[in-house]
Amino acid sequence: MKILNFGSLNRDLVYTVDHAVRPGETISSGSMEPFCGGKGLNQSLALARAGAEVYHAGCIGSDGSDLLRLLQDSGVDTRYIRRVDGPSGHAIIQVDGRGQNSILLFGGANRRIPPEAVEDALRDFGEGDWLVLQNEINGIPRIMERAHDRGMRIILNPSPFDGDIAAYPLEKVSWFVLNEIEGEALTGEGEPTAILRAAAKRFPGAKILLTLGKRGAMAAEGAAVYTHPIFPTPVRDTTAAGDTFLGYFFALLEELGPQEALRWASAASALAVSVKGAANSIPRRREVADFLAQPLC
Ligand code: RIB
Repeated sequence: MKILNFGSLNRDLVYTVDHAVRPGETISSGSMEPFCGGKGLNQSLALARAGAEVYHAGCIGSDGSDLLRLLQDSGVDTRYIRRVDGPSGHAIIQVDGRGQNSILLFGGANRRIPPEAVEDALRDFGEGDWLVLQNEINGIPRIMERAHDRGMRIILNPSPFDGDIAAYPLEKVSWFVLNEIEGEALTGEGEPTAILRAAAKRFPGAKILLTLGKRGAMAAEGAAVYTHPIFPTPVRDTTAAGDTFLGYFFALLEELGPQEALRWASAASALAVSVKGAANSIPRRREVADFLAQPLC
């Protein structure tokens, strides 16, 4: 099974703040650190660090060499990443005293993917392969159509959720990956079981992975619903916790089944939230295995 992740690559500027800045307010930050990030890059790293065969497609600007290098160092195949004029994408991230983040995105190169880059990447994939998508790049409807035509299974993490998503060919999605806010935006329902029920009714062919923050996570495959609580750990920074969860869950789903994949994904994201930053907080499979082997887990 090959996984193609067509997704964003960002430089994250992470500011430590007492609270996220409010409209009209000016505040000082305690520190600023640059990290590699982007939902796409984070998810590719998590998939690869969990052991999957991952290909990343997308665009970086003239300043994106470190983003490329990080993926390569973790075993992600980067042959479908193009360099375009102008800056790479970036994110301004405020992390408050409780480890919660607020993110402002600048799309940059992530929003300048040319149509021929889509054809070039998808040409090498087909029946049985997976396509992973988030919502931080341009051209998503076209990528979904082409991938579906080729028999690929589509995992869509509609994050950040915006008004464009309603126009995507959502009936072609095999797995939706949602948090509660995205679940509510997609289905109009607020409670986890109601979200799963409404999503299953609207997209009968699709399965749902629903992350619930401190309340754990659920995976729904038709009538079968699997749940897993969080592993409590000290929270330093929640950035990329969802990306880590997605990567570990899908890297291990076929090998271990949904219940075990949820357990590994929960452990991996518990480790991720205990470290500051995005990509750098994503653990390796060995670290997750050691964590799960501890008596309390
Ligand atoms: O999911 C976390 C990511 O969202 C950050 O790394 C940031 O770049 C944004 O894409």
